[in-house]
Amino acid sequence: MLTVSNVTKDYPTPTGPLRILENVSFSMAPGDAAAIMGPSGSGKSTLLYILGALDRPTSGTVTLGGDDPFTLDANALAAFRNRRIGFVFQDHALLPQCSVLENVLVPTLVGAPDSDAPSRAQALLDRVGLGSRLGHRPAQLSGGEKQRVAIARALVRQPQLLLCDEPTGTLDAGSADAVATLLFELHEAQKTVLVVVTHSDVLAARFSVRFHLQQRTLVRR
Ligand SMILES: Nc1ncnc2c1ncn2[C@@H]1O[C@H](COP(=O)(O)OP(=O)(O)OP(=O)(O)O)[C@@H](O)[C@H]1O
Ligand SMILES: [Mg+2]
Repeated sequence: MLTVSNVTKDYPTPTGPLRILENVSFSMAPGDAAAIMGPSGSGKSTLLYILGALDRPTSGTVTLGGDDPFTLDANALAAFRNRRIGFVFQDHALLPQCSVLENVLVPTLVGAPDSDAPSRAQALLDRVGLGSRLGHRPAQLSGGEKQRVAIARALVRQPQLLLCDEPTGTLDAGSADAVATLLFELHEAQKTVLVVVTHSDVLAARFSVRFHLQQRTLVRR
């Protein structure tokens, strides 16, 4: 269960705090999927970063499976993110010097040895249609292929929460559709909580729950 209670976020600026989010509250159960929409600058990425424990709320709480990551010390927080949250960024953020397989394995290199990781990574890469590209570098992949590697990397730790910031924003309509289909299939298979930020009405229409960020609050449509 992901539970967000009264999350408010202010950024400090020279002229005083700038409020981006105010009393955002919602909850999602395992297997739930939601899209977050809203104009540029409305705070979608800010909210996603807070859900991903990459940034702290000014006030309010976020819990995943009953645990509040913001009460943890730095090491425990890093482990929490690594084990329980997968993040897909708009620009894939793959390591250019690493192969496709190595990129997917990166999250498994920290913490306790994870001997099943290579077979899970291979299975995920097969699943996303890149089983024959394991040794390719990111520069040797198409945009949609890179995004599929990023999705495999986000899922290799079998996270409870999968967060995607405009995962199809840089793709043509056909590739965007294929990546979205894959995302839903993997989400269904792993029963994650899935939250996707998107500007695309086509992608948002595929979600049963759609939120809009407007005037600093989240409104369900
Ligand atoms: N570190 C920061 N310090 C001050 N203001 C910030 C900081 N980060 C973001 N902001 C401001 O917060 C607002 C929300 O930014 P955010 O990146 O969350 O928007 P967004 O909804 O994701 O927009 P886009 O659709 O363009 O990606 C913006 O007005 C931005 O200028
Ligand atoms: Mg953004």
